Amino acid sequence: MAQATERALFDAVLRGFQVSSLAIAGSLLVTGSPYGSQTNYRGRLAVNGRVAWIAMELVSPAMLLYAYLGHPARDLGVVPAGGPGSESAHSGLAAWRTARGALVLAWLVHYVYRALVYPLQQQARKPMHLGIALSAVVFNTVNGYLNGRWLAAFAPAELGQPFAAYVAADALRRSAGLALFAAGLGGNIYHDSILTGLSHRQAALQTAAGARARRYAVPHGGLFALVSCPHYLCELAEWLGYALVSGSPAAWTFLLNAACNLVPRARLIHRWYRTTFAAEYPTSRTAIIPFLF
Ligand SMILES: NC(=O)c1ccc[n+]([C@@H]2O[C@H](COP(=O)([O-])OP(=O)(O)OC[C@H]3O[C@@H](n4cnc5c(N)ncnc54)[C@H](OP(=O)(O)O)[C@@H]3O)[C@@H](O)[C@H]2O)c1
Repeated sequence: MAQATERALFDAVLRGFQVSSLAIAGSLLVTGSPYGSQTNYRGRLAVNGRVAWIAMELVSPAMLLYAYLGHPARDLGVVPAGGPGSESAHSGLAAWRTARGALVLAWLVHYVYRALVYPLQQQARKPMHLGIALSAVVFNTVNGYLNGRWLAAFAPAELGQPFAAYVAADALRRSAGLALFAAGLGGNIYHDSILTGLSHRQAALQTAAGARARRYAVPHGGLFALVSCPHYLCELAEWLGYALVSGSPAAWTFLLNAACNLVPRARLIHRWYRTTFAAEYPTSRTAIIPFLF
């Protein structure tokens, strides 16, 4: 496909993805977020929660790699200011390639954890409605395409040339973004592990005490002291960091989408905790933003 035609397609998909994020937030506010603790669906369209999770999350790194590696002209459009072959052009291009490689690597590290390590550590997840799994597949397909294609094909035109100037001018923003990404990933894994440990503990209690024991309990530790969903807060910090490093409209749109999904879900989970555990639930906690929301 010609570069201009694909750019038009990319922009149309990007706009659609931005609009869909607002629709997702609206529908979550109206219908709820029907998986995990927020549903007990056991109908004909229920699929194995762990298998569905692995399958739908693997789509994201696969699609990013496909869109990134599969572009026929990854460095076309790079016309160094000093002319092709000039020394400054080479160092700028090399710096850009390093930054781009780091972004691809960051994506893969996150999704190897999210798609494989995380679900395999967990107690079996609740069954999931097939529709939820399919919508996640669509989301991850579009998101992987947008982010992979931008890195492969459209960054040179948008970030400006020569790349040496881009690399030097935005060094502070990219360093802060990288630190935020790493802290967000670490925090996300840490708080996921608290919930995973709790669900293993509750499953053991259920085995010992039967129906008298609950599947869920009040989590403690880390940022659970302040909010009900610190794993979501850290996930958002992670993708904010990624967007700061990348500067790409695809990465900012992913952050918008993640926020439109996770903030309403955090609100629902927070209310569910307060209803389910009543006086046992710490009143000082907010849903996802410490002290505010
Ligand atoms: N980027 C995005 O847009 C996006 C979207 C969704 C999720 N994620 C990430 O994926 C990860 C999982 O998300 P999620 O929505 O599945 O989180 P979740 O609803 O909080 O559940 C996480 C796991 O912990 C268990 N669990 C949750 N609360 C528990 C409690 N109080 N007691 C015992 N077990 C509990 C759940 O068990 P059950 O299966 O039995 O409920 C589930 O297996 C998070 O790190 C999140 O940030 C990212």
